[in-house]
Amino acid sequence: MRHLLDIQSLSSEEIHGLLNLAENVKEILYRPIPKVPTLRGKLVLLLFYEPSTRTKFSFERACKVLSADTMSFSAKGSSLEKGETILDTIKNLYALGVNLVVIRHSLSGTPHFIAKHLKIPVVNAGDGIHEHPTQALLDLLTVREKLRTFTDRKVAIIGDIKHSRVAHSDILAFQKLGASVFVTGPAHLLPEPKEIPFFEVKPGGFKVCLKPREALQDADVVIALRIQKERHGEAFIPSLREYAQNFGLGPRELEWIKPGGLLMHPGPINWGVELAHELEKYPFQVILDQVENGVAVRMAVLLSLLSGE
Ligand code: CP
Repeated sequence: MRHLLDIQSLSSEEIHGLLNLAENVKEILYRPIPKVPTLRGKLVLLLFYEPSTRTKFSFERACKVLSADTMSFSAKGSSLEKGETILDTIKNLYALGVNLVVIRHSLSGTPHFIAKHLKIPVVNAGDGIHEHPTQALLDLLTVREKLRTFTDRKVAIIGDIKHSRVAHSDILAFQKLGASVFVTGPAHLLPEPKEIPFFEVKPGGFKVCLKPREALQDADVVIALRIQKERHGEAFIPSLREYAQNFGLGPRELEWIKPGGLLMHPGPINWGVELAHELEKYPFQVILDQVENGVAVRMAVLLSLLSGE
């Protein structure tokens, strides 16, 4: 693996390899001094052109645990404001001795473009509406920890499937490991027939459901997606209240899933919209486990890309 750009180009063996490594290194986080020298001397550039809490800080935490140095780029106050291109920005930062670039950008394909022009590894931390591969890896790790296996598991994803990079990576990742993926949401935010081939990977298969109950019934895992107000406002949904009524999850919807079924959300959550407030106390809600696993997964990705250099 030279870069981590998307789940699409990873094999199931590569995914299992990253999950195994994440599981192994996770114990470092619980040591009295959670630090190892493995990546000492390496410099990681964190380039976030879009807001982030979980992804950015878990990459930073992962770097610190592995003793890599970080440089954080903020578009505001940089020479981007004077018209410098992203590529020139990154080439200049590379000249400062960077060993790996983590990039989040609102334009789909930006990490792939950067990777073509740099000799160092590039990690996609979310590109537009395309993919968010490390989110899918941490989702997989969370499910594997709780349910052990993926085969014959039903994963339901509910929300704006069309514009969600998390959904796109999860749909591919869960199928690659053998689960079946059922997606649901407002009809105009579901994949169109011509887009289906991109999502059909097989083992457990992929299905688009117009009715939430069909997707959720007997699901082992349900992933609620965030309404991305910043990307397209509320233009794609008539109102948040109507969305909550038809596609928000509450105690009634969770009765449809399997007993002990996991409730996941990539965050940040719009409480009262995607998830009813009562679900904060749902016993199989694993949203903070996802965040914790984000550090272990990102440690595994950094180690895979940097330790052999
Ligand atoms: N899940 C996720 O990508 O969260 P952030 O936007 O806070 O990084």
